[in-house]
Amino acid sequence: MNENPYRTTVLAWYERNARDLPWRTESATPWSILVSEIMLQQTPVVRVLPAWEAWMRRWPTAADLAAEPSGEAVRMWNRLGYPRRALNLHACATAIVERHGGNVPETHAELLALPGVGVYTSAAVASFAFGQRHAILDTNVRRVLARLETGIEYPPKAPAKAEFALAESLLPEEPAVAARWGVAVMELGALVCTARSPACGSCPVIADCAWVLAGKPPHDGPPRRG
Ligand code: ADE
Repeated sequence: MNENPYRTTVLAWYERNARDLPWRTESATPWSILVSEIMLQQTPVVRVLPAWEAWMRRWPTAADLAAEPSGEAVRMWNRLGYPRRALNLHACATAIVERHGGNVPETHAELLALPGVGVYTSAAVASFAFGQRHAILDTNVRRVLARLETGIEYPPKAPAKAEFALAESLLPEEPAVAARWGVAVMELGALVCTARSPACGSCPVIADCAWVLAGKPPHDGPPRRG
């Protein structure tokens, strides 16, 4: 097993600092976790919170949503932006009922086949809802790993192969720990290792950070032209 010097530190930091978000609680379901991940794709947590609560009150299961017209989903989406996601969620609910008997599927491949579910969302749901071991690369995680491990640039859109290899190499063996690691790194990126003004002074792993060591060179993708 690969032993990483800062993994335990990040996990311990998460225990003390994690936000108390409803989709991370014991009572969250695979469906409520899937809804949260679709909402969080392009919308900040503070705006997602009330929308997610209202959505889950109205449609606690995929079958509840699939039973209504897709226009209701769009209406309920309200001001979250990118309303195509509401249609995707409705189509997801229908697919879950038709193909999976109303239960969110558990495998990465089946999740990936759902409308609007990409590699990140599929891995996140497999990990957070089903405790599987998957590398999770959202924008926050990509930034944290790029800074910590290499201080390198990372492409602005899809993660490069090397980023997946790096994330894989850092992933704890034990699936439950790997799932916790994923959300812990995500949280470090959201709360401390932010894009514009990282709070390096409060970072638990500043001593391990290649980017800090290198004098914090710019790294948000390749330089812009013009
Ligand atoms: N917890 C689980 N998934 C999350 C996400 N995408 N953003 C913020 N917190 C999360």
